[in-house]
This record gives sequence, C-alpha cells and structure tokens, in this order.
Amino acid sequence: MNTNPLYDVVFDPEYWGKYGAPHEVIAKIRNEHPILWYEHDDFDPVWLLTRHKDVEYVGKNSKLFLSSPRTVIHNPQGFKSPLVGLPQMDAPDHTEHRRAIQGWFTAKAIRGLEERITEIAKVLVDRMAASDECEFCNDVAALLPLKVICELLGIPEEQEGTVWQLARDIFAAADPDISKTTNSNAGVENAMAFCADLATSRQSQPTDDLASTIANAEVGGKPLTIQQIASHLLIMISAGHDTTASAISGGMLALIRNPDQFDKLKANPDLTELAINEMLRYVTPTTSFVRTAKEDTEIDGVKIAKGDDICIHFSAANRDEEEFENPQSFIIDRSPNRHLVFGKGPHVCIGLLLAKIEMIALFKELMPRLKRVELAAKPKYIKSFWVTGLKSLPLRYEVVGA
Ligand code: HEM
Repeated sequence: MNTNPLYDVVFDPEYWGKYGAPHEVIAKIRNEHPILWYEHDDFDPVWLLTRHKDVEYVGKNSKLFLSSPRTVIHNPQGFKSPLVGLPQMDAPDHTEHRRAIQGWFTAKAIRGLEERITEIAKVLVDRMAASDECEFCNDVAALLPLKVICELLGIPEEQEGTVWQLARDIFAAADPDISKTTNSNAGVENAMAFCADLATSRQSQPTDDLASTIANAEVGGKPLTIQQIASHLLIMISAGHDTTASAISGGMLALIRNPDQFDKLKANPDLTELAINEMLRYVTPTTSFVRTAKEDTEIDGVKIAKGDDICIHFSAANRDEEEFENPQSFIIDRSPNRHLVFGKGPHVCIGLLLAKIEMIALFKELMPRLKRVELAAKPKYIKSFWVTGLKSLPLRYEVVGA
C-alpha cells in the first residue's frame, strides 16, 4: 500500500502543473513496489503498474483485463459516464466498432494525407519565420493536429477553436488557465452535445468525411446509437489533437534542453522518425489507463482479485530501466525504442500513424530552417496527471526561408 506520502504526487495535478511529470518518484515506486496497491482520497484504489513488462502484459490481455468497468483513474467503477466509445468497450463489441472506423487510419489511408499535412506544417513554419518569437504550444504545436483532425472529420475552420476548447475542458479541467469547466465530466457532457449534433447532421446529410463514416456505420447489420456515435466522435475531437500537440511541444523543449541532440537532428534529417519516437517516449502525453480484472489472477506472482482495478502507467513504463538504457535521457536515435506511448494490444491507439506522420512533417519542415532557438520565458505545464504536457512554451528563434 502507498504509505509513503512522497507517492501522492503521481496523481496530484498541482504537482504536475508546477514541475511536470514526477519521474524520480515514479522510478522510486518502480524500484520499491513495482506492483503497488495505491489508495487515494479522491478516487477508488488501483494496482499501480510501473514496469514496462507488466503494463505491456495487461494491455495485451484484454480478455482478462477489461476496459468497460473503469477506464480512467479519476472515475470509479460503475461511474455513469455518457461515454460508450472504443476506450470503454470490450470484445466483441470493441472489435466490431473498431473495424467500422479503422479504414481511416490504415498505413495507406494515412499516406494519402501526407501531402496535405506537409502543406499545413509549411504554413505554420512560414508563419514562425515571419517573426523571431512565438508561444510554441498555441501558435504551432496545437494548430497542426487540430486542423488535420478537423479536416478529416469535416469540421469547418471556424469551429476549430471550439473543438480545441472542448478538448481542453475534458483533459485540463483542473487548470483554470486553459479550461472553462472545473471538472472533466462537465467537459465530457459539453463535448457529447457537440458530437451528437455533428452525428445527426451527418446522418441527414452524409458526405465523404470521417464523421459521416462514424455517423452512418453499422455493426451486426444495425446502425449505431447516437450515444455510441457521439462517444466515438468525442475521442477523435479530443485525443485526436491535444495529445499530439503535447508530444510536439514537449519534443521541442527536449531538443532545446539537449543541444547535442538538437545538433544531431539538424545534421541528420534521416533521424527524424527515430527522433519523434523518442520525443513520444520522453513526453508520454497520455500517462495512463485503467483496466479491471475479470477473474482472480496474478501479475508477476502478485495476486489480483476479480474486480480489482489496475492502472497501466505508460509514462512509468516508458522510463523503466529494465527496458530502456538511460531511460531519463533524451536520445534522438534511440533504437530499439519499444515505448508504450500508444498503449498495447487491442486498444492500442487507432491514430498512432496519424500522430507520427504529423510530428515527422512538422520537424522535417522546421529543423532545417531553424537556425537557433532558445526559451524566451519559463515553460508552463498543464495541471493534469492524465493527459499531460505544456501549456506555454515561449520561444525566441531564427527561422529562415519561406
Ligand atoms: C501523440 C498522440 C497520441 C497519443 C500519445 C495517444 C495515446 C493513446 C493511448 C495511450 C490510448 C489507449 C491505449 C490503451 O488503452 O491501451 C489511445 C487510444 C485511442 N486513441 Fe490515441 N493517442 C494519440 C493520438 C491519437 C490520434 C491522432 C487519434 C485519432 C485521430 C487518437 C484516437 C484514439 C482512439 C480512438 C483510441 C481508442 C482506441 C481503442 O480503445 O480501441 N489518438 N491513444
């Protein structure tokens, strides 16, 4: 049990907002209690898994470790969430619903978006070049994935700001600087209403966008309910950009704080794909998900009772010294790099190729043109321990060309 008060910071939004991820404390937990029964005043207890091998094992074994009873650390089992999307589903429903959406996220489909994504990245870097200062989170990192997911869903440009705010109201509810709601469930309700409207509009007037595919999908010969459609759309309009934005801004900060790695990437553009993988590992925007044991079982010899909740902590797993050499170091050509930033198993992130291609496009455009860069002020982190990252990264720089 977590009798050590030091451990409290792992789920303390104030700590994350002040300092970012508590990697040293997490490493201490992994060394002292890699499978820890974690009790907290604000939410139901969980087994906290911090080793790569355990997180991977639970993620892969979705028949034994269920998603539907509880998905996230801050909601208890049986919490009446309106969400019934992919993250909240188990097989066989999960498999069939995922199949209905998957076509938009295959390697071939994502390759088809590459040209447009590169074009958007170029516009953003050109805009950077027109000045010598920017606030990188809001001016660059957020805008690329936001525009891409809105275009995929067929959401018009004038609603991009609304989509951005809806995501922040869910993921950053504890942070009044950027959220308009004070708890993420109020954010979820607002976003569900937006998504239900989108669903009905695409049912009455289908087009060739992702929202139309989801709104008019059939599973087992039956149409989806509005609640299911809105839930699927909600994760697209939230996880579909905020996470990638966080990986981009966190990756940029890591490059600035590690000038040798910055220079290496500038000298070797071919390393971009490895570099963005390392940014993803190092930042790990979505820190964790929760599963529930379907029956009595064991994880590496520790008895887990039927109904126990298990927090698979991707952020912890991605700094496990048993899996990664020098896990606290940012090494752009790290290989192999078996990070779990997108999870593992049947629930693995559906948008992982999209996120990667967006990051590659941006850093391929930016790095050759970025002659120098430094922090113009102290970076600020979002007060959140679930979907995490920077909210402000003021930069001073020289970007050439247009
Ligand atoms: C750097 C960016 C991203 C990160 C770090 C991230 C992370 C994750 C993680 C950790 C999961 C849960 C895996 C699990 O439960 O085992 C997940 C699931 C999911 N993500 Fe992402 N994601 C990112 C980008 C995206 C994008 C761009 C989209 C959509 C356009 C997306 C849509 C989804 C969906 C729909 C699921 C649920 C999949 C399921 O349960 O079957 N994500 N993501």
